[in-house]
This record gives sequence, structure tokens and C-alpha cells, in this order.
Amino acid sequence: MPTHPASGATLSYTDRGSGPPLVLLHGFPLDGRVWDDQAAGLADRCRVIVPDLRGFGQSKSDAPFTIESLADDVHALLAGIGALPCVLGGLSMGGYVALAYAKKYPADLRGLALIDTRAEGDSPEGKAGRAKMIETARGPGGAKAVADQMMPKMVAADARDHRPDLVRRLRGVMEACPPLTIEHALAAMRDRPDFTADLSSIRTPALIVVGDTDAITPPAMAETLHKGIAGSTLAVVKGAGHMAIMEQPAQVNQALRRFMDGVTG
Ligand code: MLT
Repeated sequence: MPTHPASGATLSYTDRGSGPPLVLLHGFPLDGRVWDDQAAGLADRCRVIVPDLRGFGQSKSDAPFTIESLADDVHALLAGIGALPCVLGGLSMGGYVALAYAKKYPADLRGLALIDTRAEGDSPEGKAGRAKMIETARGPGGAKAVADQMMPKMVAADARDHRPDLVRRLRGVMEACPPLTIEHALAAMRDRPDFTADLSSIRTPALIVVGDTDAITPPAMAETLHKGIAGSTLAVVKGAGHMAIMEQPAQVNQALRRFMDGVTG
């Protein structure tokens, strides 16, 4: 995997295909491998760039970060490898980073794909939950204990019960996340701003994607994004939970391909 120094951290990334850049940001506590089906399925249409965010995957770092600083890292990486302006896609936490990027670097964006994510900040209960999970990550179970806690909500019941390979693949990614990164990411998500009021300022074309049974960022949150961003398109993925990109890659890839066609001609 190539690496590139980005505002103090060295980011690892994959870079496949050629044409208009499509950059895909993973969620929590994940890494770029969750986009393998999109990189494989879309590299014939565009240049698919998948970074590991600071501290995740191969982008080793012990430094704390914010959602905004992750957006700065991504921008520095893309500027360095000649991939601006780009279509930026984000899954869940990656969507928070994409929204921060859209606010700060609107001129370097051709389109925004917000996948199983939300604009709303954390509620007081949500913030309390982050504190609890930080304790879990610091405990003896580390990343595995965090994965145990999150797993029941990550995929639809059907995938949970009948797709052991998918569950194993996802679990492997979650358990590989360094506990210190888990802690930093939970603090970053807890402290992130609410982006709801910023949605009406987004002028770039936007695609909103959500699994029809997403239990972490449910379809109602996707509706808020869709209503808030003028002219956006909403795609509800059938038979998918929070990890629609892995659960139903064909549907997600079709929506992304159509979006790329519309945005880049
Ligand atoms: C994610 O999937 O990235 C996280 O679960 C999002 C969150 O906890 O807010």
C-alpha cells in the first residue's frame, strides 16, 4: 500500500483505476478494507482511492485527532497525490469526516456520497455511551470487547445469522483496530459538531445511501440528510443494515456508479 505524509500522519491508501477520483472513507472501528467490494467493482469507471484514516489500518499513529483534523488529513493526502477535486464518499464516521470536508473544502469537491451516516451530533445519552465504550476499549478485552458490543447492530439479522464469512471478515477488521485509536475516535465523534444546520449550504451534488434496517444510523437520519441537502438523491438499500457496503455491494455500487455518471459525465 502506498503511503503519503498528511499533516503530520502518514496515511496508507489504495489507489485503483483511472479517471475521476472517487475517495471512500471508512467508519468506526474499521479500516479501508471494508470498501474492497467498491474498489473492485468501480475501478473500471473511476480512480478509487481508499485511505486508512489516521490511527486506523496501516496508517499507524498514536496521536489524538478530531473529525475536522481527519478531514484535513484526507485533503492533504488528496492534494499530494493529485486527486482534487474529488467525489468524496463516507460511511458513518467517514460520513462525519466527509461533512467536515464539505464545509471546509467545498471547492475541492465534485460530489458527496453519504452512506449509513447522519448529520446530527451526539445526544447527551450518546456522549455518555462514548465514555462507557472508552472504558471498554481501555479494559482487558480491548478491541475485541468493543467489537462484541457493536457487532449485533452492525449488520442486518439475515447477514448476522446466515453469512458467517461476512461476519468473520467484519469482525477481523474491528478486532484489528488499536484500542488507543478506538479511544481517540470515540472522543472525536463525541465532540464533533452537529452538521444539520450546514446541510443547506452544501451546493455539491449529493447521494445519500442507507441500509433499510440500519440500526445505528437508521433511514430517518438519511431522510434528514436528503431533505437538508437540496437536490440530493436518496437510495435505500434493501436487505442491509449499517454495513450496506459489505452486505449488499451490488446495490451500493450501482448507486455509486449512477452517481459518478451524473456528476462526472
Ligand atoms: C461508525 O459506524 O462509524 C460509528 O458507529 C458511528 C458512530 O458511532 O457514531
